[in-house]
Amino acid sequence: MREMRELLRADLDLLPDYTPAHVTEPWRMIKLDSNENPYGPSPRVLAALADTRTWHYYFGQDDLREQLAQYARVKPENIVVTNGGDESIELVLRAVLEPNDAVIDAPPSFEMYRIAAIANRGRVLDVARLDDFTLDVETVIKTCQTARPEQREGSNVKAICLASPNNPDGNLLPRADLLRLLELPALVMLDEAYFEFAGTSAVDLISKYPNLVIVRTFSKWAGLAGLRVGYVIAAPEVANALHKLRAPYNVNWAGMIAARESLEDAEYLMNNVRATIAERERMRVELAKLGWRALA
Ligand SMILES: Cc1ncc(COP(=O)(O)O)c(C=O)c1O
Repeated sequence: MREMRELLRADLDLLPDYTPAHVTEPWRMIKLDSNENPYGPSPRVLAALADTRTWHYYFGQDDLREQLAQYARVKPENIVVTNGGDESIELVLRAVLEPNDAVIDAPPSFEMYRIAAIANRGRVLDVARLDDFTLDVETVIKTCQTARPEQREGSNVKAICLASPNNPDGNLLPRADLLRLLELPALVMLDEAYFEFAGTSAVDLISKYPNLVIVRTFSKWAGLAGLRVGYVIAAPEVANALHKLRAPYNVNWAGMIAARESLEDAEYLMNNVRATIAERERMRVELAKLGWRALA
């Protein structure tokens, strides 16, 4: 019998752990570490899930893609629905990385970029954020340019991973910086997990820049973190690659029903988003009274 460590990939030791907090009853506490939505899902979601009896069938994602295309003001061929934003990130990096290709990360930021890059045999080049947590765009550009796209091994930067607003600091990526990055010979994965809270998006650039890939989620604004629904907005060529790579039924039927009902009840959910923003502003003022400064 062969040793298991000979069968398992040798590079798995390089993968950082993503350890979810172990909380049995999160609703009994004020839990802030994962940016969950304290208001929960729309009542329409709860009612639709309670009424559904069709759990014994497989369901594809075409209807939800149509609905999301309307919501995001793109075409259905631009949309790939995923098992949370996490799967979007993983699929995008899986689609571009060959062994030893590089990904630029701008820490501190969302940990999944690093994990997904390493899981897909990529290397992570860190470009640390500046003291105010804004992106060091000059160093990102320099790092990308010193890498040679024609080089198959070593320093070939395939993707730049950025969240806007960024987790943990809330900074937005200025549009002028994004436009400069989009001229680079790399895919720009722009994570808009908090788009509904920020109100600004780069989705209008999708038709002009095939190297722009946007990631979004229902976990935050729609309060569906436990149901795992996210989506990618990308040029059709990229979206088709992701469809090839994803499992045929990557998003469960309950999640798709919940996403459908959330989009139907977007106004209700946006009221909760506005309440969250108001609470954030109250926190900012109260923290300032204690001598703390909120960054974004
Ligand atoms: C910036 C960012 N992107 C993506 C995600 C992933 O969200 P989910 O996988 O729940 O859709 C999160 C969750 O915290 C996040 O903060």
